Amino acid sequence: MSAKPKVIITRKIPAACEAEAQQRFDAVINRDDVPLSTEQLKEALRDADGLLPTVTDKVTVDVLATSPLRARIIANFGVGFNNIDIEAARRLGLTVTNTPDVLTDDTADIAMTLLLMIGRRAGEGERHVRNREWTGWRPTHMLGAKVSGKTLGLIGFGRIAKAVARRAHHGFGMRIIFSDPFPPKPEEAKALGAEQRGTAEEVLREADFISLHCPATPETRHLINAERLKLMRKDAFLINTARGDVVDEAALIAALKSKTIAGAGLDVFEKEPAVGPELLSMENVVLLPHLGSATLETRVAMGMRAIENLTLFFNGQPVRDRVV
Ligand code: DGY
Repeated sequence: MSAKPKVIITRKIPAACEAEAQQRFDAVINRDDVPLSTEQLKEALRDADGLLPTVTDKVTVDVLATSPLRARIIANFGVGFNNIDIEAARRLGLTVTNTPDVLTDDTADIAMTLLLMIGRRAGEGERHVRNREWTGWRPTHMLGAKVSGKTLGLIGFGRIAKAVARRAHHGFGMRIIFSDPFPPKPEEAKALGAEQRGTAEEVLREADFISLHCPATPETRHLINAERLKLMRKDAFLINTARGDVVDEAALIAALKSKTIAGAGLDVFEKEPAVGPELLSMENVVLLPHLGSATLETRVAMGMRAIENLTLFFNGQPVRDRVV
């Protein structure tokens, strides 16, 4: 019999993390890599000392109400934790951790990828070449929006937004404006060339590109709705690498169709992995399958961070990334 704590890992994780988890815990890994059902998540919480879910496992109040609850810690593989009912976890005295910092640069890179792709019509251009529609260079062909020197509006100014600001300002000479209820020190914003605005609405009115960087909470659900989309300039683009919930996808589709805004670059969707079917046939959008943190280096770092949190917890020490 193993004296190691039992941990259920809900998806395949990078091999180096699997090996580490197996060395430290009695680790059970869902090698089928198919999301666990509600029943399977409940069973996992009854069966193991800890759960290592991913950002797509819905650990709801119903799942947490399973009894008898053996698990004492949920170490989320991801920085976002809107997949977990945090209040229910708190009530049950569970520890919940996440994996901040390690995915900041990669997620900022994907935001810039989307920004450049949508501004410069890269997705559309790639399809054009692959479809053998390209007849050659001409001065008026596929003209996009210049990126360098434009104004980038950041809604939310946490770690990832700051990393985007750094790239956009220092790399592309963009002017940065932002809104955040918890703004940084003025010196920090200044070093990133960033000017604060009082509200998201002001940012939406002013920027050429808007990038969303707020967490998914009840307060930010559908923050970008039909009314706020109307505040954006007709030639502006919306980038979302945060969470699908932050945008009312139906309102976004309507705004794209009516050309209320120029385009959107999306890495996250409201009903992920389902994507609003109308988006699939639009040329003025770039669609990625939630790739923000998807590099081998970062996914290994995320796995190791979750394992570190579990190890500290089982050793009776303070965890590194406590959410509750
Ligand atoms: C997270 O960690 O929250 C990301 O969305 C997954 O890359």
